Amino acid sequence: MSDRLIVEQAWDALEHSIIYYQGRPVGTIAACDPDISALNYDQCFIRDFVSSALVFLIKGRTDIVRNFLEETLKLQPKTGQLDCSKPSRGLMPASFKIASQGSKEYVKADFGNHAIGRVAPADSCLWWIVLLRAYVIASQDTDLAHQADFQEGIRLSLELCLVTRFDMYPMVLVPDGAGMIDRRMGLYGHPLDIQALFYAALQASLELLVPSPENQFMIQAIQSRLVPLLRQIRENYWLDSDRLNVIYRFQVEEYGEEALNQFNIYSDSIPFYRLANWLPEAGGYLAGNLGPSQLDCRFFSLGNLLAVITSLVDEQQSHRILNLIELRWSDLVSHMPMKLCYPALEDTDWKIVTGADPKNRPWSYHNGGSWPVLLWMLTAAAKKMDRGELAHHAIAIAERRLVLDQWPEYYDGPDGRLIGKEARKYQTWTIAGYLLAKELIANPDHLKLVTFDPVLPG
Ligand code: GLC
Repeated sequence: MSDRLIVEQAWDALEHSIIYYQGRPVGTIAACDPDISALNYDQCFIRDFVSSALVFLIKGRTDIVRNFLEETLKLQPKTGQLDCSKPSRGLMPASFKIASQGSKEYVKADFGNHAIGRVAPADSCLWWIVLLRAYVIASQDTDLAHQADFQEGIRLSLELCLVTRFDMYPMVLVPDGAGMIDRRMGLYGHPLDIQALFYAALQASLELLVPSPENQFMIQAIQSRLVPLLRQIRENYWLDSDRLNVIYRFQVEEYGEEALNQFNIYSDSIPFYRLANWLPEAGGYLAGNLGPSQLDCRFFSLGNLLAVITSLVDEQQSHRILNLIELRWSDLVSHMPMKLCYPALEDTDWKIVTGADPKNRPWSYHNGGSWPVLLWMLTAAAKKMDRGELAHHAIAIAERRLVLDQWPEYYDGPDGRLIGKEARKYQTWTIAGYLLAKELIANPDHLKLVTFDPVLPG
């Protein structure tokens, strides 16, 4: 099938996923699979909608994105309260749906209080801010972002990350399953995927917040957080051969300001031999999580790709991440771009870390499965760094399967050859992710919706 026909089919499917509220388009549902019970896949997820929204923005369909931003903002709690069954002030829901009572429609939000595992979505409010900025760039409608309710919305979400906290790191502390990986996967604490998004949201907020007396405190808080966050990620999350050598010979139990091994990482917790063998000399990447005596050396695509796209990592690191993807293509891309994380947790690790979750068996779903939605992030990262050939190659691989397999949510197996065991078909962000990748490769000017000017580490 020609790629023109594939694009046409994708557009039909994307149109079909649009949901309406009081006659206005306000979002896209997660999946339109007629064969599997919907559970919550008939809802509009904030994170999933970002891929659709970027495609709509590129195509000039700014109305749906504006409606989405307005409706979701109304769902954000504006007052603090002590009732633990209510969402915190500033939180954005994981998803929402349009329900009705009699003839009256209303928007019903899920802040994770209905979700499987009752996981709270830390990423929603961050994606929302990033999307608002993309909307402003695409539509030039700065008035919307400057409205008092939007300015307040940004401030309240950032308060959750910047003001109340239990630790003294520049990273944001989140519970397990707080992002795209919304099940237990060892991502409690300071997972990279959330930190990269946090960085993007901070940068976006600096552009969006007007310098008013009300915003002054928040603007200062962002400014004083950006550089320490950037340094922490670039230095302490970074893994390459040189860094591995340093960690291998770390002293432990160091006290005080001079400590080199700040997080007290024990050498025995790191698979040095496997890593030394796997990491090419020209490659490098950001580790998946960092905390006290914890350096999770799994490769997480979302965080690494976002770090390249947003300039959270420097130019050399960006190339090293792309080198790694290129040189370890059969592990990270293989038959479907691309692995959500690599490698999979197996045996006792799988049992202990995931709670023996059957959906997250080794090389399935979040645990080493391949997610086509990541195609647009791979394309954006590659195109940004002038390495379009990587993106072309990945898109060509995806095109071979996506339509035939009816746009699955994810693929399984070490090489991504099997359609995911419980994958939905007609998964909207698979469809939108493909369309977005095609748009970005055809016109790299659209990259400006998601890229940021580099911040100098100072
Ligand atoms: C799954 C994914 C999550 C996504 C949701 C809807 O729960 O883990 O990231 O938002 O499905 O597609």
